[in-house]
Amino acid sequence: MKLVERMKAAARADVKRIVLPEGDEPRTVKAAVILKDEGIAEPILLTKALIEAPSNAARLASYAATLYELRKAKGLTEEKAAALAADPMYYGMLAVKAGEADGLVSGAIHSTGDMLRPALQVIRTAPGMKLVSSSFLVECPNRSVGEEGLLVLADGVVNPCPTAEELAHIAVATAETARKLCGVEEPRVAMLSFSTKGSAEHALVEKVREATAIAKGLAPALLIDGELQLDAALVPEVGALKAPGSPVAGRANVLVFPDLQSGNIGYKIAQRLGGASCFAVLQGLARPCNDLSRGCSVEDIVNTVAATALQAR
Ligand code: ACO
Repeated sequence: MKLVERMKAAARADVKRIVLPEGDEPRTVKAAVILKDEGIAEPILLTKALIEAPSNAARLASYAATLYELRKAKGLTEEKAAALAADPMYYGMLAVKAGEADGLVSGAIHSTGDMLRPALQVIRTAPGMKLVSSSFLVECPNRSVGEEGLLVLADGVVNPCPTAEELAHIAVATAETARKLCGVEEPRVAMLSFSTKGSAEHALVEKVREATAIAKGLAPALLIDGELQLDAALVPEVGALKAPGSPVAGRANVLVFPDLQSGNIGYKIAQRLGGASCFAVLQGLARPCNDLSRGCSVEDIVNTVAATALQAR
């Protein structure tokens, strides 16, 4: 069974309430009907009219008070908090924060930054997590790579220029997403670079080596190796030649890119040239909120909601 079908089946077994703040957007409305009809999730479509209805005034005031408390130290005034809380994106985040919804999916009409900023400000990082990042779940037509064609790529959405320490946290979080969300029993993490095991020397390569060492300290049992080039990570013969004895080379199923430019370009190459199906989930947030591409289809929204429902379990 394909990954998304497995996710939908698992979501049906434990139905979660997922907020869709873009409740006036046609693809989102169609997706909500499918989610409800197929029992994948309980969609909560937000509209300005619903948020500002007199019957909802008490809840809105309570959300505004929560937002003010969260952000007053950053200079947010009560007036501004009240206005922001009535914005469907903030309102949806505050509903999740209050436990009145289990997760949120947005981004069909908002940019990634416009969705991420409220998530970082309101939902914040999960206990013990230093950083929010993302994983792309990539299903390749070539089933000989990764985990029978499945690769988990990071970070293609959030952190433009991670430090070595941040890259290490991204690696560990991505391995956890592979394990918990995708059912990968043995994540094998390749820390990607333009060099394999010293074939080139540069500060950028050194950063990937440092990140690998930090990640090993954070998760000693994790199979992780770097720096590796993409071919050494994925192709057994190349891995054996360039990184003999590596526990990961040639059989990686988790690929950690050195920065957002390479991660974002990398997943789009897999999608547009490699014919892979790709969608992203955020990791490290205290509650699941996920971003869509503005070019998303109804099916993309349904799939992302299914993944969000699983993260909410
Ligand atoms: N993890 C945890 N907290 C974070 C992170 C992070 N990765 N990044 C920022 N924060 C926190 C900050 O500490 C700050 O907290 P505070 O206000 O309580 O002190 C808060 O979030 C806001 O941070 P800022 O630095 O003010 O926000 P910034 O303007 O840098 O925005 C953002 C953060 C939105 C994540 C930014 O880095 C960004 O735009 N990233 C790229 C998004 C993007 O365009 N992706 C590519 C397209 S997506 C696609 O193609 C699928």
